[in-house]
Amino acid sequence: MRQGATDGWATRFGLIMAMAGNAVGLGNFLRFPGKAAPYGGAFMIPYFIVLLLIGIPLMWMEWTIGRHGGGYGHGTTPGMFHRMWGNRVSKYLGIFGVLLPAMVGVYYIYIESWSLGYAWQTMTGAYWGKTSNEEMNGVFVSFLGMDGGPFSFSPQAYFFFLVTLGLNVLVFSRGIAGGIEIVAKYCMPVLLVLGVVLAVRVFTLPPVEGRTVSDGLAQVWRVDDWSVLLKPDIWLTAAGQIFFTLSVGLGMVHTYASYLREREDVTLSGLASAGTNELVEVVIGGSIAIPAAVIFFGVAQTQEIAKSGTFFIGFYALPVIFQQMPAGQFFGTLWFILLFLAGLTSSMAMFTPLLVFLEDELRFTRRQGVTLISVAVFLLTQPVVLFMHHGIVDELDYWMGEVGLVLFVAIESVVFSWVFGMDKGWREMHLGAELRLPRFFYYIMKYVTPTASVVIFLWWCSGSLWDKLLMKGALPGDRPYLWLARGMILAVAAFLVWGIHHAWKTHPKFFEEAGKDGEGGE
Ligand code: ALA
Repeated sequence: MRQGATDGWATRFGLIMAMAGNAVGLGNFLRFPGKAAPYGGAFMIPYFIVLLLIGIPLMWMEWTIGRHGGGYGHGTTPGMFHRMWGNRVSKYLGIFGVLLPAMVGVYYIYIESWSLGYAWQTMTGAYWGKTSNEEMNGVFVSFLGMDGGPFSFSPQAYFFFLVTLGLNVLVFSRGIAGGIEIVAKYCMPVLLVLGVVLAVRVFTLPPVEGRTVSDGLAQVWRVDDWSVLLKPDIWLTAAGQIFFTLSVGLGMVHTYASYLREREDVTLSGLASAGTNELVEVVIGGSIAIPAAVIFFGVAQTQEIAKSGTFFIGFYALPVIFQQMPAGQFFGTLWFILLFLAGLTSSMAMFTPLLVFLEDELRFTRRQGVTLISVAVFLLTQPVVLFMHHGIVDELDYWMGEVGLVLFVAIESVVFSWVFGMDKGWREMHLGAELRLPRFFYYIMKYVTPTASVVIFLWWCSGSLWDKLLMKGALPGDRPYLWLARGMILAVAAFLVWGIHHAWKTHPKFFEEAGKDGEGGE
């Protein structure tokens, strides 16, 4: 148990469900089909290679870093990094593990609220009769109120957003055992059942113009064109998807793992949570959106839809499909409830590092922390809700959910394997391990994971970073809003830098002398 923490995981099942829920999210059901469909089955090759060589090793590293830092009383990556690397800068590098999840959470929670809104709209049949992608685009635009000038506003979407925000605050304010664990314990099994029901529905669909479910599955699993593997972008897209879907490089796994006891297993549990995520993503997720879209629209149109935007399959194509299938209103409602539950179990993890940072490093009480976060998240989400049509979500996602995440993955794998040292890291990882990892992974973690992560980051930057930085291609009218998004990121980052500096100055002992479990801790 983290030194000084009064909260913690009540059961092993609850821990695995919470960790799996942290990973299983909108990424599995919306982002995955959006990223995979354009490439066809070839996408799964880099996907599984990156999963094995980088994703799962990172999962083990993050569980280990979290449990190790927790033993010193740290629930977030600034303190954890300091414990692995007693250098002046390490704690500042750790800021990413608080900044990224909170800033991703700011737009993620809004997208999550759309699922709730669409569950309602589907249940009430609000868009029934709109049977083309174009018409569904119109439904989407008017649902979000993006058709009404610069301050476009949709009371309906705003209502669902407030409900979603309120639910998130309610859950994380109740802490680990009393909030997050309970929600995950109930929501994850429900989500799995919903996923299986929807997959069975897709599997039993009658052929449409001769297209069957096998054609749909072939689009996910059959490699027709091996030459796409020579293009760097398929590798970068697969890596980005693996990181995002596993929630690695976001600081959330570290915080959850900081509540583990010193000798509580991380290898088997880490693998179980990654495995659950993959089962949900490729087996269940891969059997719903893409196959359904291929049956109804054919391969070429499905690829077009996916290329037009990450959310298009989920929010445009599937509602059209549900209208054409028997009992579509029922299954459509289940689909959006599934999305909402997946989103909730991830978003409640996104603000936890910030809350724990406030409690641990700045000595806020739980109530003060929850109040500050609720107000801050409410304020930060206003521009996201009001100016989404000016590209604010894309801007935040690019800097936080893509570049920032890949950068943090590179930093943490280098710090763990090369600075902390792989020998120490391996020993730490195997303390109380219920699964002894094959030695093969020692070498993977020592050489492949950090090197590949750094290469991916540099590769990523060489592509779009400069153009993005200079806002090349952005409409002049959108630029002030993109600056606003950057300003929001910088303001939160500045607060965190100040917070660490303050903690360092006012509680030096906290950083220097707190003992590990069994060495003077709990
Ligand atoms: N891992 C989470 C998701 O897939 C963030 O949505």
